[in-house]
Amino acid sequence: MDDLKAKYLGQIAEAADEATLEGIRVSAVGKKGEVALKMRELGKMTPEERQIAGPALNALKDEINSALVAKKAALADAALDERLRSEWLDVTLPTRPQRRTGTLHPIGQVQEEITAIFAELGFSVAEGPRIDTDWYNFDALNIPGHHPARAEMDTFYMHRAEGDDRPPHVLRTHTSPVQIRSMEKMGAPLRIICPGGVYRADYDQTHTPMFHQVEGLALDKDISMANLKWVLEEFVKAFFEVDDVELRFRASHFPFTEPSAEVDIRCSWEGGTLKVGEGDDWLEVLGSGMVHPKVIAAGGIDPEVYQGFAFGIGIDRLAMLKYGIPDLRAFFDSDLRWLRHYGFQCLDMPTLHGGLSR
Ligand code: PHE
Repeated sequence: MDDLKAKYLGQIAEAADEATLEGIRVSAVGKKGEVALKMRELGKMTPEERQIAGPALNALKDEINSALVAKKAALADAALDERLRSEWLDVTLPTRPQRRTGTLHPIGQVQEEITAIFAELGFSVAEGPRIDTDWYNFDALNIPGHHPARAEMDTFYMHRAEGDDRPPHVLRTHTSPVQIRSMEKMGAPLRIICPGGVYRADYDQTHTPMFHQVEGLALDKDISMANLKWVLEEFVKAFFEVDDVELRFRASHFPFTEPSAEVDIRCSWEGGTLKVGEGDDWLEVLGSGMVHPKVIAAGGIDPEVYQGFAFGIGIDRLAMLKYGIPDLRAFFDSDLRWLRHYGFQCLDMPTLHGGLSR
């Protein structure tokens, strides 16, 4: 019995694969294996001999079986280790260029660029629903029911069945409702941007019923118009990838900011191409101002303690300007030729250090 044990435990220890192990199992503890043959000899023994040999044989069988199980597990572990060693993949390798058929839409690209720039300035990205109540879209932003701004914005109202007493919902006409939602959610101090789609009933070469804005909001105890100006200048320089830009703040009016300013960029259209930072033309790119105290209060924050600035930038407009795209409507035609021409490599994430648009 000791010989059997030494023989099989030795074989098991040396087995290099599962097939060998199975062979050992069959010849040791299989139905016609050596241990079974020994068991058959029990019949010829005296009862006294049997009482010693029987349990000993069973113990031997158990020992061989557990050695088999342990070895099987060890072989599986080794096989897995070997696979992990041999089947590795360098996920940092570039993809095969011929596979890159899809492209990133210019709106998505510009959105990423804008996000990268404002992230560097300490703004985080906030979101809000595209279907919102008229309270968030208007009232909370100091645009009461009778205000002409409601009509000016060509609002899409959601249909309401007769007797429906839920608050009226609209397709948001701007990203400004996210100012209120962010204040409610995060309190002050606060620095957020919110890029996203907005809707107005309008359609021509520079207007589509759905377009994109990026809202900005910064609230703190010591924020002034000077901070707004600096942030916007930094943004425009980084976005157009030029060292110098001249901005013009034009007095304007929005119900939710006081004072309000629209911002133009000095540019030239010489030779039909747009150059930012030189020339005698001015290009209107955004609305901005110091957040109205009523708006801060509507967001649940004390306007006696906190103040700040907000801005709303037209993303589609910026994309047209930066990438020389003449007609806004083509953005949303889903024409593959247009998408291939104006699309961006989807793996080139815009970063300030790596370059925004290269
Ligand atoms: N919501 C304004 C618009 O859509 C833009 C804006 C945002 C102006 C924030 C001032 C402050 O025209």
